Amino acid sequence: MDTIIIRGGQRLSGEIRISGAKNSALKLMAAALLTDQPLKLSRMPRLADTRFLGHLLTWLGVKVEERADARLFLQAARIKDTFAPYDLVRKMRASFNVLGPLLAREGHARVSLPGGCAIGSRPVNLHLSAMEALGAAIELSEGYVNARAPQGGLRGARIVFPMVSVGATEHAMLAASLARGETVLENCAREPEMTDIAECLNAMGARVEGAGTATIRIQGVDTLHGAEWTVTPDRIETGAYAMAAAAAGGEVRLKNVITDHNSALWDLLRKAGVEITLEPGGVLVRRTGVLQAVDMQTAPFPGFPSDLQAQFMALMSLADGVSVIRETIFENRFMHAPELSRLGARIDVRGNEAVVRGPCALKGAQVMATDLRASVSLVIAGLAAEGETVVSRVYHLDRGFERLEDKLSACGADVRRASETGEG
Ligand code: EPZ
Repeated sequence: MDTIIIRGGQRLSGEIRISGAKNSALKLMAAALLTDQPLKLSRMPRLADTRFLGHLLTWLGVKVEERADARLFLQAARIKDTFAPYDLVRKMRASFNVLGPLLAREGHARVSLPGGCAIGSRPVNLHLSAMEALGAAIELSEGYVNARAPQGGLRGARIVFPMVSVGATEHAMLAASLARGETVLENCAREPEMTDIAECLNAMGARVEGAGTATIRIQGVDTLHGAEWTVTPDRIETGAYAMAAAAAGGEVRLKNVITDHNSALWDLLRKAGVEITLEPGGVLVRRTGVLQAVDMQTAPFPGFPSDLQAQFMALMSLADGVSVIRETIFENRFMHAPELSRLGARIDVRGNEAVVRGPCALKGAQVMATDLRASVSLVIAGLAAEGETVVSRVYHLDRGFERLEDKLSACGADVRRASETGEG
C-alpha cells in the first residue's frame, strides 16, 4: 500500500494546472448510458473513482476507451445487462447513478444499494422517490433496488426535493431527460456540476433549462445522440491547492479555473490574510504574512463546500486565533481532526462543530487518511509542518486527486510517494 511522505517547511512557488472535476466526470460517464452513440469526454481526470465507474459501465455493456490527452470515449451501443452488482457499486457511491439512466433507456434495472461510508450514512431515499415520481415501481430486496418503469417509459413529473441533494438532482436530470413530457425539479442543488451535466445533456439533444438555479425544467425527448464534451474544472482540487499554498506560504498560480466556482473560499481566504488575485482562467494565491483565524460553516453551493472543510481545518490550525468550523452537510465528517491533532493541531470537536485553536507549530508525524478530502488535509498540514509527515492509506487520495505529488513537487514541495515494498 502506498504512502505519501512530505518534508514540510518549503514555501511553494509555481503553477498548477487543475484537472476536470471528478464529481462532474462521474455523472457525465453515467450519461453515456442514455444513448447508443459515442459520448466523447475531454479533460477527464484519471482517478481511481473514474476507473471504478469505467469497470461498472463496461460490465453493463458500455465500450469505455481511454484516449491520449485526458480523453475518454464511451459508447453504449447496446446495454448488455441492467444489473449493477454489489461488488461494482459498493466501492463508490456515484455508481448508484446508473440506476436512472438504465431505467430511462431500458425500462428496468437492478442496482445494489451503495451503503454508508466513512463521512456519514448517506441514504438514497431522495434518489428513489425521484424515480418513483417519474413513474417507476421501486422495490428493495436483499440490498438491491429493483426498479421498473411504467409501460411506455418514465413520465415527466413535478418533484420538490425536501432537502438539497447534489446526487439526487443530477440523477433526476439524467432520468428525466428521456421521460415523456415535462419534469420540473424544485429545491435543486445549484453546484456548478449541475450546469456541466445539464449542458452536456443538451449537447446530446436533451432539453434541460435552469440548471444552476433552484428550479430545473426538463422537456423529455425520445432519444439522445452522441456528443463531445469538456469536463468543467475541479473546484475542489482548486480549493485544495489554494489552501496548500496558503498553508505553506509562497505564491502559486492555479490554471484552468472558473474562479466564480470558488467565491465562498476566496472570501474566507482573503479574511484569513491570503492574497487572492482572480485572473482570466486562473487565480494567483499568495501568502507571505500571518494567517488569521476565521469561522466557517459548510453549506450547499454557493456556500462553502463540505468537500473543502477538512483542508480549511488544516489551514486554520496554522492561523492566529480561534476558528469555529461547522459542518452542516454530513454528520460524521471530522475524522481528520484526530489525525491533524497528531501533527500538533489543537482541535475540539463537539457535535457538528470543531473549534480550532491556533497558531500551532505543527510537527511531522505518521498519520492515516480516513477519506478522500481528509487525506489531502493531512498533506496540506504536512507541507506546513516541521520535519517528516507520512500519510498512509493513500488509496483514499487517489480516488480524487490526479498526480498530486507531481503537481506539488513542481511548485517546490518535498512530497514523494513510497510503496511498502520500496520507494517508487
Ligand atoms: C456529492 O455527494 C459529492 N459526491 C460529495 O463529494 C459532496 O460532498 C456532496 O455532493 C455535497 O456537496 C459526488 O458528487 C460523487 P448530497 P452526494 O446528496 O450527492 C443527504 C467527495 O469527496 N441525503 O448532496 O452524495 C446526505 O446524507 C464527495 O468528492 C439524503 O438524506 O451528496 C447529506 O447529508 C464526498 N438522502 C445531504 O443530503 C438522499 O437520498 C447532501 O448529500 C441523498 C442525500
